[in-house]
Order: sequence, then C-alpha cells, then structure tokens
Amino acid sequence: MNGCMEPSDSNGLRCAVFGASGGIGAALAEQLCARADVAEVHGIARDPARVPSGAIPHRFDLTSEASIAKACAAIGEPLDLVLVATGRLTRESGDGPEKSWRTLDADAMAELYAINAIGPALIAKHTLPLLRKQGKPVFAAISAKVGSIADNRLGGWHSYRASKAALNMLVRNFAIELGRTNPRAVAVTLHPGTVDTPLSQPFQRNVAEGKLFTPEISAAKLLQVIAGLDTVDSGRLFAWDGAEIPF
Ligand SMILES: NC(=O)c1ccc[n+]([C@@H]2O[C@H](COP(=O)([O-])OP(=O)(O)OC[C@H]3O[C@@H](n4cnc5c(N)ncnc54)[C@H](OP(=O)(O)O)[C@@H]3O)[C@@H](O)[C@H]2O)c1
Repeated sequence: MNGCMEPSDSNGLRCAVFGASGGIGAALAEQLCARADVAEVHGIARDPARVPSGAIPHRFDLTSEASIAKACAAIGEPLDLVLVATGRLTRESGDGPEKSWRTLDADAMAELYAINAIGPALIAKHTLPLLRKQGKPVFAAISAKVGSIADNRLGGWHSYRASKAALNMLVRNFAIELGRTNPRAVAVTLHPGTVDTPLSQPFQRNVAEGKLFTPEISAAKLLQVIAGLDTVDSGRLFAWDGAEIPF
C-alpha cells in the first residue's frame, strides 16, 4: 500500500481504535483485523466485552485520564495507527442537541466538550508519543462536517458543533507540534458521512435517499482516506470521500 500506514518492518502494523464498541469504531476495528498488513488491533472501549473479536480489548472512559493512560501503557509502542471513534451528539441522559441558545445549559455544554474535545485530546496526549518514528504513522480522530465554522449555514446543535470545532483546532495544533517531534507522522480529523449508528438514529428522518452509510461503508471509506494521506495533509479535516473540509 502507498501513502500512510506503510509497514516499516515485516512485523505488520499495530493499530489502536478508541471507541471500538461504537457503530463506526467497531467497523473500523473489524476491517483492520481482517487486513494482511495489520499485526495487532487494540480495541479500547467503556465496555471491553463489546470490542469486536480479533481485537485486543482494553477498558477506558474518556472522562478519566488515568484510564486512558492505563490503556496506553498496556498497548505500548510503537503504534502505526491511532483512531479515535468516540463521540456524543446528545447527552448521556438523551437530552439535546440544542436548537436555540435559549436551551443552552452549562452542564450539557461541559459534557459534550468533555466527550468530543477534551477526551480525544487526552487520547492524543498519551498516544502521540507512541507513534512509530518510521513508516507513516497516523493519528485520526473522527470529527464531523458540522464542526466546520466555514461550512455552517444551518446553525443549531450548539455544543456538538462547537466541541467538534474545538477538536479540529486541537488536532491542527497537535499536527504542528508533531511536525517538530515526529515529522513522518500525520494527525487529521475525519468526517465519516451520515452513518446509521445509535448516534444518528434519532436524526435520520431528513437524510436523503442513498446518503445514509452503513458503518461498514463509512469505515472502509475512512481507511481509504487514511491510506492516501501524506505529511502535507497533517492538521486538516477530510471527509469520507477524501475531500478536504475547510475549518
Ligand atoms: N453517525 C453519524 O452520522 C456521524 C456523523 C458525523 C460524525 N460522526 C462521529 O463519528 C464518531 C463515531 O460515532 P458513531 O456514529 O459510531 O456513534 P456511536 O455508535 O454512538 O459510537 C460512539 C462511541 O463513543 C463512545 N463513548 C461515548 N462516551 C464515552 C465515554 N465517556 N468514554 C468512552 N467512550 C465513550 C461510545 O461508547 P459506548 O458504546 O460505551 O457508549 C461508542 O463507542 C463520533 O465522533 C461522531 O461524532 C458520526
């Protein structure tokens, strides 16, 4: 394979999928497990029993840095691919997303920021130092097109959009820092399309015919995008079809 995630030795790639219990995360872990160039897939989830078989299960919670550090210590280095496939659109209680500033709530905003921006940033803190120094290692966090400020014409979903915009900014920052510490590595955010998962389930009514991906299709497209990445792409947000989405 050309581009990113080239094996740097004959032992095969070591991959970690955070959120391997989710719709897209599980599909990503399963597809990586099936690849001949992949030696090890670590699936990290709140409930390790829900990590697809074939992946090595670990427990973590995005709201506990200690649990992220513990999982990363167990995984060890080097890593060729780190995927962050976690996220929330509504609160754990089911409330949200907000349609108007009138319904803004500090606790709701803090919860969405904790899950969509702070947790992935802490995963980066503990995984970026594990990225292999050879080959073309990749850190990719699943963001969302609605986190693009430039693309925002509809408004609404305040905490989700803002927390994903924050995630995009954080990963851009990490990419710049990574350029100095591990210049072969690439850090990006990805938009998976509209995907049939528990996250999107309550909001699928207005999705146009043929525009709702299965998690398997989305995961396959995201892995294709990752395979085509180069160091010049680091810090950017890409959609499932490889198109760059402006911040
Ligand atoms: N589906 C779409 O249409 C769509 C569109 C754009 C962007 N995205 C993004 O794609 C990513 C994956 O979402 P999905 O559609 O696959 O949704 P999903 O099936 O609901 O998966 C979400 C994942 O996040 C995990 N998670 C939530 N809170 C957590 C916590 N405190 N600690 C650890 N893990 C936690 C969930 O774990 P549990 O299973 O334990 O809850 C689950 O593994 C998200 O970033 C989402 O914003 C999705």
